[in-house]
Amino acid sequence: MVGEPVNLNEFQELARRDFYAGGAEDQYTLEENMEAFRRIMIPPRILVDVSRIDLSTNVLGYNISAPILIAPTALHKLAHPEEVVTARAAAACKTIMALSFTSSCTLEEVASSCNAVRFFQIYVYKRRDLSALLVQRAERNGYKALVLTADSPRVGRKEADIKNKMTLPKLKNTERFLSLEASSDNGSNLAAVAKETKDASFCWKDIEWLSTITNMPILIKGLLTREDAIKAVKVGVAGIVVSNHGGRQLDYAPTTITVLEEVVQAVGGRIPVFFDGGVRRGTDVFKALALGAQAVLIGRPVIYGLAAKGEYGVRQVIQMLKDELELTMALSGCHSVKDITRRHVRTERERL
Ligand code: FNR
Repeated sequence: MVGEPVNLNEFQELARRDFYAGGAEDQYTLEENMEAFRRIMIPPRILVDVSRIDLSTNVLGYNISAPILIAPTALHKLAHPEEVVTARAAAACKTIMALSFTSSCTLEEVASSCNAVRFFQIYVYKRRDLSALLVQRAERNGYKALVLTADSPRVGRKEADIKNKMTLPKLKNTERFLSLEASSDNGSNLAAVAKETKDASFCWKDIEWLSTITNMPILIKGLLTREDAIKAVKVGVAGIVVSNHGGRQLDYAPTTITVLEEVVQAVGGRIPVFFDGGVRRGTDVFKALALGAQAVLIGRPVIYGLAAKGEYGVRQVIQMLKDELELTMALSGCHSVKDITRRHVRTERERL
């Protein structure tokens, strides 16, 4: 690549980071997440007054500048010495950041670094008391929602990490990774630490426990089927995130954009449905909204922006997506995100 990146894929070339880029096993789901978007078409709508386009939207009561949120991703310190810059970029772009449970900064550091609306993502420890303390710390520090990532009772097998003998970066004596708070390990083997600490027995009935220890709304992330969507509505969560963890957990899990509509139909408008996986273009955001997502989350592109250019890079990544989404809306005759409907896309089935 020569010169400045002009799209999100070029940021990936600039950042080159195996840990972030990789997926599980054959990386089929990882690659298909992006390919599946390419099979959906957007018929243009002509002769509509699109002299003004409004990207703004509302997520769980918070007004944000566009339906593009920052997904929780682990260990930003591998990309940049100061993880809190991602949160600052979220604030500058007037969007929401979900802080990863495997964050390399504390909940408090991120909270004090910016005024972005922040969500906190959690995996539940075997030691429920420690999980409860973390949730309460998040709430005390102004995090606005709890994102329970439910697709990872075990950690997917990422062969690039095995080859690279991936370990956690060294921290100063006083620092500690959030996710290691229930572990005696120093993080030399991430999968082993997760196995030791995560509660693989956590299941649907335990959501009730989670809701007794917090007033934050709970979102379940990692859901891909109609059956699980119905269960999520039944247990009374505030929303769901259709996600296959960016192809890092179950390889050959379906691509998120192909199951989105099925999940949206099962939910039937009772709770908001969010979406992530493979979003690299404004057209991808548009397609996810057309198929019923209220907003999308982006994972890798944010870290690529961070690795390449720090806070400015994250801002550029979000701005590029916003610019592309705005153009897509103009060319398909949509003034606002509410105008984007199922009629604005043609899936493969409809093109046969
Ligand atoms: C993730 N993801 C993730 N999810 C989560 O709930 N907690 C976490 O700590 C992480 N960590 C993480 C690290 C890395 C390197 C990646 C790439 C992803 C998954 C993330 O939230 C999101 O679901 C995907 O990244 C979305 O796919 P894209 O946007 O990366 O294609």
